[in-house]
Amino acid sequence: MLERSCYPEVAPPLEDSLQTLPSTRKIQIEVLEDAQMVGEAAASFVTKQVKAKPESVLLLPTGRTPLLMYFGLISRTNKGELDLSRVQTFNLDEFYGLAPKHPGSYHTYMHRVFFDYLPALPRKINLLDGSAIDVDKECAAYEAKIKTAGGIDLVVLGIGTNGHIGFNEPGSSFASRSRRVAIQPETRAANAFLFENCADNVPEAALTVGIATIMEARHVLLVATGSAKAQAVAAMLQGPITPDLPASFLQLHPDVTLLADREAASKLL
Ligand code: PGA
Repeated sequence: MLERSCYPEVAPPLEDSLQTLPSTRKIQIEVLEDAQMVGEAAASFVTKQVKAKPESVLLLPTGRTPLLMYFGLISRTNKGELDLSRVQTFNLDEFYGLAPKHPGSYHTYMHRVFFDYLPALPRKINLLDGSAIDVDKECAAYEAKIKTAGGIDLVVLGIGTNGHIGFNEPGSSFASRSRRVAIQPETRAANAFLFENCADNVPEAALTVGIATIMEARHVLLVATGSAKAQAVAAMLQGPITPDLPASFLQLHPDVTLLADREAASKLL
């Protein structure tokens, strides 16, 4: 670990509707040498959570950044250091219009990079169904399932170059819940790796949990690696709290840890 600090009070201008919300404005920041170390630190963070509460409810990300975290969790499980069989997992998002078995779905991705390597699956694995006919019903049922599970103990987030979290693209409101959203062109491009490297093949819409869903998690861990994320990371921590950069809403959450490599942290003042 290179540095550990609490980002100080930055007093950004708040939207009127947010003025009354309490805020600690402190995000725990750990800057690590490289992506490998971020993955390791993230796996340790999740392991600590599950050891403290074996029935933890986890809200998990996809994308490329968390791959090394999943690798670390698999390796700890194989060594007998971690038991994920009692946790419940939810995922942040899924492509709209794709059935779970579609090769490009996040459902497939999660099995391909994580679940299929575990000797015992989590007690319950939950993902939004992108092929649901009645999207509103699917999203409401997902929110209800999270509630029934007792709420999210730990959400692990990546961040988009445009500051999105989950598929909450710029313009997402603080009060947003699980819903269908349009995916912005740069986000579709970032997901091309799942669709034969062709951004045009990436669905134009997704189902995602909302900002409010994320904000209700007891703990938030955000992982960011690479210079492409530097601008978004700096704006999230040092810019105003605004729907234009949804990750900035995390300034209002009382328990956020950011694990960033040197490159992703390079624009922090
Ligand atoms: P990435 O995606 O890890 O593939 O960069 C992060 C995100 O979009 O949340």
